[in-house]
Amino acid sequence: MPKAKLFITHPLYPEARTLLQGSCDCEFWEKQERPTPQELLARLKDKEGLVCLLTERIGEDVIRAAPKLRIVADVAVGYDNVDVPACTKRGVVVTNTPGVLDETTADFAWALMLAVARRVVEADQYVRAGSWQGWNFDQFCGTDVWGKTLGIVGFGRIGRAVARRAAGFGMKVIYHSKTKASAEVEKQLNAEYREMNALLAEADFVSIHVPLNGDTRQLFDAPKFFRMKPTAYLINTARGPIVDEAALVHALEAKKIAGAGLDVFEQEPFIHPGLKRPNVVLAPHLGSASNETRGKMALLAAQNAVALFQGQRPPNLVNPEVLKTS
Ligand code: NAP
Ligand code: GLV
Repeated sequence: MPKAKLFITHPLYPEARTLLQGSCDCEFWEKQERPTPQELLARLKDKEGLVCLLTERIGEDVIRAAPKLRIVADVAVGYDNVDVPACTKRGVVVTNTPGVLDETTADFAWALMLAVARRVVEADQYVRAGSWQGWNFDQFCGTDVWGKTLGIVGFGRIGRAVARRAAGFGMKVIYHSKTKASAEVEKQLNAEYREMNALLAEADFVSIHVPLNGDTRQLFDAPKFFRMKPTAYLINTARGPIVDEAALVHALEAKKIAGAGLDVFEQEPFIHPGLKRPNVVLAPHLGSASNETRGKMALLAAQNAVALFQGQRPPNLVNPEVLKTS
């Protein structure tokens, strides 16, 4: 039997590459810059599989241009870059990479929280600029993280991993999520459920961990910022469009909140100029960016694709209904 033809929009890591090459006819995108939508469409014409990154928008146009396509294996847990209903309608399987990046992304949410509260970036820039004249009692005094209240919005895999770390900081953990966690999980993580408005009013740090979808787009709007404490910080390692950036900038300018740590933005890589302020720490979407974790994500995406072409059920199906009906 001829091998299934795949387009992979990144060279990936060796283990994933080897797995894919072992059972599929692979065309890898080897360039540093991302493929343009036109380049993507051109390469997909004769392909049965696509392994892609979250920077690729897989809409109806892509699905139409790829009549043989059977799977979109996203190398990400958040699959908002893929038009899942369009894929489902055409019988194209969509998979993602949940679970393998929880701890790494949770670490990064904490990195942002600590960096913005303790003014790490401002201090680093000051030292590098040669401005430091010696120890000073009131220099770069920030805000304590330990002992404060951490509010987690979206208590799934990553939200819970963020909560676990709070124990070492002696923090009170409150959360809001679509579904209330079991009493056992709440006890384990020492976390208490709150309605959204109650969480916003109580938390010293609000960390976002919901997926981007129709319900969560612009979830954090002006009224939400007005409910937060003026001493509180917003941390976003989920997706940019969950936050109304113009409203966030206004809240920062009006001192409705104390600062923010942001890994994701409404229109990446564009950064709203109003976010470039000392009390905001900015990162270029690095949540899962450790070599170990990126290797695991790539391998999981490869396993999803290979499983389908070997007649097995991919482990991380986003639209399982496609396989039920085929
Ligand atoms: P997850 O396990 O599915 O957790 C998401 C949680 O959010 C679930 O508990 C879900 O509740 C809850 N939720 C969904 N809609 C909600 C709403 N409208 N209001 C309140 N809660 C809601 O996902 P995850 O693996 O933790 O990943 C979360 C997101 O993080 C991903 O979708 C991705 O966008 C982002 N992410 C970013 C990076 C990065 O590099 N910055 C890395 C990894 C992930 P239910 O379970 O009841 O639906
Ligand atoms: C990264 O942002 C992911 O969703 O995996």
